[in-house]
Amino acid sequence: MSTDDTTTTDASTETESNCDASEAESAPEAAAEASTESKCGGSTTATQETGGESKCGASASSSSSSGCGASSDEEEDVGATVDDFDADPGQLVAVGLGPGQPAGMTDRAKTALADAEHIVGYTTYVELLPDEITEAAEDIYDTPMCGEVSRTEEAIDRALAGNDVAIIGSGDPNVYALAGLALEIVESKGATASMLDFDVVPGVPAAQSCAARVGAPLVNDTVSISLSDHLTDMPTIESRLHATAKEGFTIAIYNPWSRKRRENFEKCCEILLEHRDSGTPVGVVHAAGREDERVEIVDLGELPDLGETDLIDMTTTLLVGNEDTYVWDDRMVTPRGYETKYDY
Ligand SMILES: C[S@@+](CC[C@H](N)C(=O)[O-])C[C@H]1O[C@@H](n2cnc3c(N)ncnc32)[C@H](O)[C@@H]1O
Repeated sequence: MSTDDTTTTDASTETESNCDASEAESAPEAAAEASTESKCGGSTTATQETGGESKCGASASSSSSSGCGASSDEEEDVGATVDDFDADPGQLVAVGLGPGQPAGMTDRAKTALADAEHIVGYTTYVELLPDEITEAAEDIYDTPMCGEVSRTEEAIDRALAGNDVAIIGSGDPNVYALAGLALEIVESKGATASMLDFDVVPGVPAAQSCAARVGAPLVNDTVSISLSDHLTDMPTIESRLHATAKEGFTIAIYNPWSRKRRENFEKCCEILLEHRDSGTPVGVVHAAGREDERVEIVDLGELPDLGETDLIDMTTTLLVGNEDTYVWDDRMVTPRGYETKYDY
């Protein structure tokens, strides 16, 4: 592996939700005004037109059987196939919003959203969009947690029906997010990525937004691990934690805690302390770039006790230093290694 690689494990299909709605990032409520039913059980907010039905234009039989509020174990079936649509397809773009506030969005993301006729996303992220974008969109379809498959299918169906659609998520669409799921569903419908001119607009991932808040913790080989056992089982997560902690990577831990995931956090702390000194610095960043941002640098030994505080929840990312990481002037510093070759 190149020394500059930043490896993200467990990323292929893990999506925004952990289906633990009570722990949603900011207790999302379905959009209230002008809300109308859509086939996936979410809400659709028409800003220029008001439609009662889903805008996907597929036949009734295409309805996804499940939607928001489905239990995490409930299967979300994919409905309509490419043959159910007569229109020339529109475009489907997966857009990463970065950490949250508009200031953290790239110009390319803003342009992609401004160009989209329909915007589809998790309610919390729709609420983070700048007003000029939501006001300009023809239609916005949002769902609370636990509707990733139906929400992604809705976005695809709308694009197959001839609309230019942006499906949004926090951070980057390739980090525990929906870009992979979108391609899988497009394929399962018998459509192709090229047919939809499928594109991904990158955003700043949480690990990087959070790293920026605590100094320079991730400048060397880093592995990301999600503690969500919604799509990856806990024994696999544990074995990845052991391997990563043992090998001395800096570690970005996503989805660190939820009421349903207490034991995962406790197990994670136990594994880290098995391989790392209890004085290892850990950056704890809650809601980077948002109004309720909180930042602390703690010793690894203090981490287990923070699990029951509101500093660590589903909007927190943990950055665990490697054996060389130290704290200087309230910043985490992970040496890049130049000191072994240069005098400074
Ligand atoms: C399903 S993952 C989505 C990751 C996202 N695609 C990215 O690139 O950052 C959700 C997890 O990302 C992390 N996260 C997302 N936004 C964050 C923020 N503003 N501050 C800290 N962590 C955040 C949290 O660990 C959260 O549990």
